[in-house]
Amino acid sequence: MSAVVWVDGTLHSANAPVLQAGNHGVTVGDGVFETLAVRDGDPFALTRHLVRLQYSLDRMGMQAVDIPFVRSGIREVLEAEPADVARLRITVVSGPGPMGSVRGTGKPNVIIWGGPGSAPGACRAVRAPWKRNERSAIAGVKSTSYAENVVMAQFAAKQGADEALMSNTFGYLCEGTGSNVFIERRGEVVTPPLSSGCLAGITRGLVLEWGAKAGMPVRVAAPGELEMAVLDEVRHGDAFAAVSSSTRGLAPVVWLDGADLREGPLLRRVGELYESHADVEHDPPPPRTRATV
Ligand SMILES: Cc1ncc(COP(=O)(O)O)c(C=O)c1O
Repeated sequence: MSAVVWVDGTLHSANAPVLQAGNHGVTVGDGVFETLAVRDGDPFALTRHLVRLQYSLDRMGMQAVDIPFVRSGIREVLEAEPADVARLRITVVSGPGPMGSVRGTGKPNVIIWGGPGSAPGACRAVRAPWKRNERSAIAGVKSTSYAENVVMAQFAAKQGADEALMSNTFGYLCEGTGSNVFIERRGEVVTPPLSSGCLAGITRGLVLEWGAKAGMPVRVAAPGELEMAVLDEVRHGDAFAAVSSSTRGLAPVVWLDGADLREGPLLRRVGELYESHADVEHDPPPPRTRATV
């Protein structure tokens, strides 16, 4: 399976040297990104991802990107490897800069990578001993400064897990290193609010919207409603959990800190609903205003 990369308007093979060593994205992680699944050859929920990309750029104080230009890059990547591209990654780095944290005046680079995806499946999770800082300057930004997530993902992998779930600094359930989290208990499904410091996941948003539209009991938890201790209930089988992301969809947590878990029956129905909508609606229009919960 081959991967392909498009940088600032030109296609390359995936391992071509395309950035300068002094790029501020490389030296200090000064950039933002999006990861998308490809469904039947279409970049899934592309408009929503592009809206979030612009939001992340804005929060980082970076220049806006030309959206039609990015769309053309995605088309070129998909046309170059139509059979192999199951996952797309859009990265915008701030460009050449000094060897310090202050950004240079260089032109940002837009990088679009297309290649094989990972098979979605059930999630094996651990609880991370570290916290998401909901008051961070980049809380809720999909920044390339993901070193914290790398450390937590390594921590999970060492224990045979593929995701680490974390709380925020108040001890409330927040998210995973690359996913949002949903809890089923007392006949409903709830997910932490954005004020917990989690990313406004595209999948999370669609699960909430499509679930509500179908009249299912799926909602955003009130701030402070979901203590991290809810995962003790999950571990004891009194509640159920699932994680959501563009590459996983809504995936049940079937193992948590050494305990095998059952899939939540309601979460399973919500997951099926999500898949059936996503199969036919490849670019759901973004909400008119950015979600604030
Ligand atoms: C920290 C974090 N939270 C949540 C998500 C899920 O977001 P989405 O559904 O937009 O893929 C991701 C995706 O990579 C993530 O990195």
